[in-house]
Amino acid sequence: MQRRHDTPFFATLSGALDQLRAKLPELDESVRADGERILITGGTRGLGLALAKDLVRRGADVVLLGRSGLRAAEEAIRTARQGARVDVHGVDLTEVDAVERVLGELGGFDRVVLNAGAVPSSSRVTSSGLDLMVHLHVVANAQLVRGLRRRHALPDGARVVIVGSEAHRKAAFLDDWQTPTTYGTAGVLEMYGQSKRLLHTWAEALKREAPELEVVHLCPGGMATDIAREAPASLRWAVNPAMRLLFPAPDEVAGSVSWALLSPHLVGRSGTYLHLGVEKEPGEGVRDAERGRRLWTEIEALLERWTDGA
Ligand SMILES: NC(=O)c1ccc[n+]([C@@H]2O[C@H](COP(=O)([O-])OP(=O)(O)OC[C@H]3O[C@@H](n4cnc5c(N)ncnc54)[C@H](OP(=O)(O)O)[C@@H]3O)[C@@H](O)[C@H]2O)c1
Repeated sequence: MQRRHDTPFFATLSGALDQLRAKLPELDESVRADGERILITGGTRGLGLALAKDLVRRGADVVLLGRSGLRAAEEAIRTARQGARVDVHGVDLTEVDAVERVLGELGGFDRVVLNAGAVPSSSRVTSSGLDLMVHLHVVANAQLVRGLRRRHALPDGARVVIVGSEAHRKAAFLDDWQTPTTYGTAGVLEMYGQSKRLLHTWAEALKREAPELEVVHLCPGGMATDIAREAPASLRWAVNPAMRLLFPAPDEVAGSVSWALLSPHLVGRSGTYLHLGVEKEPGEGVRDAERGRRLWTEIEALLERWTDGA
């Protein structure tokens, strides 16, 4: 049964109320990332693009993964700082072989932001047979981090910021995440929350399984982006203007994600969860070590099979 907060209307309203109570942390302009190489997935629009511009202004070189609007994103970021080094790779993160190929081209990073996300109009299955949101929000991130670690592309202490959502808090834990289900528009937000719940559980598992990394997972709060662009026209007319009216632009939110990525306050505090820049406990069960271990092992086994142990 669809719960009240799973409807687009209540999801938007509850996000807006959270926003009213929030004061995002501000990162002093003096915090720099000069010469650092930072990977951002979904860096071609929305929050990822805004974050890339902010990091480039702070002196970083950025590498973006995304599917569309690659050149426009590259140009927009270059205008943020003359001489900035911006590499853009076109890749569908739900295509396993394409991700393996791009991993071979990426090189090393000082920091990583796993940000790509999507809200389809109804259930969709990837070419590997997973639910699109489970694949994009969880398994693709696991594939990237696994590939980078195996290539020794992340130094000890590298910070990995994982962009999730507070929508995970009320969603059920999806035990059988490898079997896709069929749902219409009304079921999309429930699956979005469930996929983000898996993501936050995996983030906590990553903290335990990769002690050399510094994991921060967060919900940036509602933002006026086009993430609902696939919604049916009958919903889009209400959701898009409501998002624009109630939520800040991604440029206003990017500083709080830069804070999560660069702030010295989080050094040595792997596993921190932030909502709207404030540290809190993630949803119940997300820090359950046994459940995290099981999810980690299942994903590893799947990736091992898909990539032939590469
Ligand atoms: N907007 C909100 O209110 C909100 C609230 C809480 C959390 N979040 C989270 O914040 C993150 C960023 O969201 P956003 O609002 O900035 O969304 P957005 O504007 O739609 O941007 C999403 C990015 O992810 C990329 N992406 C989507 N599917 C992909 C795929 N299969 N392969 C490669 N790249 C793909 C998109 O590339 P294309 O242009 O090629 O699709 C785009 O660059 C997401 O993880 C989202 O769940 C958003």
